[in-house]
Amino acid sequence: MKTDVVIVGAGPAGLMLGHLLMQAGIDVVLLERKSADYVLSRIRAGVLEQTTVDVMDQLGLGERMHGEGLAHDGFYLADGDRLIHIDLQGLTGHGVMVYGQTEVTRDLMDAAGSRGLEIVYEAEDVALHDLDSEHPAVTYRAGGETHRLDARFIAGCDGFHGVSRQSVPDAAGKTFERVYPFGWLGILADVPPCNDELIYANHENGFALASMRSRTRSRYYIQVALDDRPENWPEERLWDELDLRLGPEAAARITRGPALEKSIAPLRSFVFEPMRYGSLFLAGDAAHIVPPTGAKGLNLASSDVAYLSRALIAWFKQNDAAGVEAYSSTALARVWKSERFSWTLTNLMHRFPDSGPFGRKMQLAELDYIASSRAAQTTIAENYIGLPL
Ligand code: FAD
Ligand code: DHB
Repeated sequence: MKTDVVIVGAGPAGLMLGHLLMQAGIDVVLLERKSADYVLSRIRAGVLEQTTVDVMDQLGLGERMHGEGLAHDGFYLADGDRLIHIDLQGLTGHGVMVYGQTEVTRDLMDAAGSRGLEIVYEAEDVALHDLDSEHPAVTYRAGGETHRLDARFIAGCDGFHGVSRQSVPDAAGKTFERVYPFGWLGILADVPPCNDELIYANHENGFALASMRSRTRSRYYIQVALDDRPENWPEERLWDELDLRLGPEAAARITRGPALEKSIAPLRSFVFEPMRYGSLFLAGDAAHIVPPTGAKGLNLASSDVAYLSRALIAWFKQNDAAGVEAYSSTALARVWKSERFSWTLTNLMHRFPDSGPFGRKMQLAELDYIASSRAAQTTIAENYIGLPL
């Protein structure tokens, strides 16, 4: 079979790109290794910046997000005792949208059905061929048979462990990586959030985050050692630790409840350059990972596909190759700034095993400076709401 663009991976990056290209009249087929239910069962990001909201609106799929999502005008940093408010709206004129990645994915999946966007779920053994030519192809197995798709371009939107980045010859790419010596233990519970805005806390015991999915569903995280296990955290122990790390003001308002989900995710900074190899483009987690502290992972996936869709639409519809040529450098310029912000906030808010009492004093001094400086708060706010495309 022949198509214009094969998209590998139907997470948020692949689904958004598929819809954007289809909306412009470009033929696409998405190949997803897992089932639709499995993709929807992954609990991940919760904060959308304007870039992501804009993509959903451009697709005409923002209705449920605007109705059910929570518009947040700010968030708090905490140092174990006090709360420091970052007034996003007052400092930048913009806020963020709290609406789960699961819901974004669901809206995109539902629309795929009604708009005729072709997604092959449970596609096994996806393999990329002839990437250094102008007639690349993808083979995969589904329903017990091997299939082949010939295309002009392939978009690798298959996440950090996907096949796309691995298909680029070693000599054609370079990786930059930092693995952090801790992870986040996350818990989802059907209880009202403890605060109307998110709280990122740096406590002597380590980082904690109070987030939410709605007015009745809370999402909390704590920093744990890399070799820790969810079983080591019976729910009462976890709630006690959240009380302690988030500080007395938030703790007084925490409602405890049974965990719907409890899991540990490692933290990593990772960038693969360039984001193009011949007829293959990489987008989202396939090309880069940020530690979750700045809520940038999903939002970077959206900005990549915003750039890539414009480039491909210009290529197919106006015979203009400039965007395609510039894609990697344009996307990477924004990626590196988000990497920097996520790394900075991770360093500021976590307990590092080797940094000792001096390291903690430096963090507390920085938080104290942020509390007193509008300039410092503005820097954080500008990055948190998302840098312009
Ligand atoms: P993904 O969502 O990973 O989607 C890639 C898709 O490709 C998947 O559906 C996968 O099944 C499919 N795939 C993989 N390999 C193949 C293959 N060979 N063939 C076909 N399909 C394939 N970000 C935040 O901002 N806040 C958070 O709290 C947060 N928590 C996270 C927790 C975890 C455990 C993880 C892994 C990530 C988290 N992130 C978070 C990051 C955020 O979820 C990602 O940045 C976002 O999902 C990126 O979207 P994507 O479409 O690029 O990749
Ligand atoms: C959530 C995750 C984050 O990494 C973050 O910075 C904010 C919110 C969340 O899952 O709600």
